[in-house]
Amino acid sequence: MKDVSGKVAFVTGGGSGVGLGQARVFARAGAKIVIADIRQDHLDDAVAQLAGEGLTAHAIRLDITDRAAYAAAADEVERVYGVVQLLFNTAGVSIFGPLEKSTYDDYDWQMGVNFGGCVNGIQTFVPRMIKFGKGGHIINTASLGAFLAAGPAGIYSASKFAVRGLSEALRAELAKYDIGVTVLCPANVNTNIAESVMTRPKQYSNSGYKFNDAILDSLRRIYSAGKDPVELAEEVLKAIRENRMYCIPYPEARKPLEKHFADVLASLPPEDADPDGVRKRQLAMEQYRKELAELQYKPH
Ligand SMILES: NC(=O)c1ccc[n+]([C@@H]2O[C@H](COP(=O)([O-])OP(=O)(O)OC[C@H]3O[C@@H](n4cnc5c(N)ncnc54)[C@H](O)[C@@H]3O)[C@@H](O)[C@H]2O)c1
Repeated sequence: MKDVSGKVAFVTGGGSGVGLGQARVFARAGAKIVIADIRQDHLDDAVAQLAGEGLTAHAIRLDITDRAAYAAAADEVERVYGVVQLLFNTAGVSIFGPLEKSTYDDYDWQMGVNFGGCVNGIQTFVPRMIKFGKGGHIINTASLGAFLAAGPAGIYSASKFAVRGLSEALRAELAKYDIGVTVLCPANVNTNIAESVMTRPKQYSNSGYKFNDAILDSLRRIYSAGKDPVELAEEVLKAIRENRMYCIPYPEARKPLEKHFADVLASLPPEDADPDGVRKRQLAMEQYRKELAELQYKPH
């Protein structure tokens, strides 16, 4: 999408941080902005901040894990502004601790918001975008942790790997509808993500990790050194205009990613190791793709 002006943009987590930066930058570029967030105080503050710059946003209180509420939010947006063509699956949460101490609640909450919320955004809006027939763009916020997993962030990373995998597949599937997909992988952003635990629902309150003021302060210190969310969103705008698969505007990510992919490639046998097996597997895959196109994708 070259011109976002006049397009309806739905930003989850738009009340704070990365999402608020996206709301600001895309509103400046002329998009009609909807911010959706679980925290009313974040929504109120975001609307006021945008208004201070002469920008408007329609705010919807939404828990992205609630599918019925999500569908109702999409209906509301269509009544107010029209069909969403820019979907920002941005809202996310994180909590860190020893993986071996993790509880099912630690898994269910983070996977539910970070991956489940993204799934719900896709399931809600993609059919509407396709029906509208005028193309669009989906920006899924993953993380550098979607490539590089560290122990204390194991569940968070798993949820972001999932977002990345789904996004790559979705990008291939939606190209024919002129709907682009970009995965945003920030390393560190100056946001309120240290406060994630405040939105943790009661039914997932049994955590295996410690959390106290000292941990909160320590997290706040790291994130305060992060990139400005507005600068990050400006990079996202460029990535959409160029229809890039990835937006990773962090030079310090290069070396760890090079090492990571070098390690992956080092685990492969040489290219000429098994010519007969390769031919057999490739032919079978080609045949399967043809059958799949016939059986699954052909209109009935
Ligand atoms: N801050 C970083 O350093 C960093 C790094 C990599 C990736 N990210 C990703 O950026 C995204 C945005 O996070 P942020 O850093 O701006 O944090 P943030 O806490 O400032 O903003 C996230 C917003 O999402 C909202 N939210 C949380 N759960 C929700 C739910 N269930 N439904 C609706 N809204 C919900 C919060 O209320 C908050 O306003 C996340 O997906 C996060 O994983 C952040």
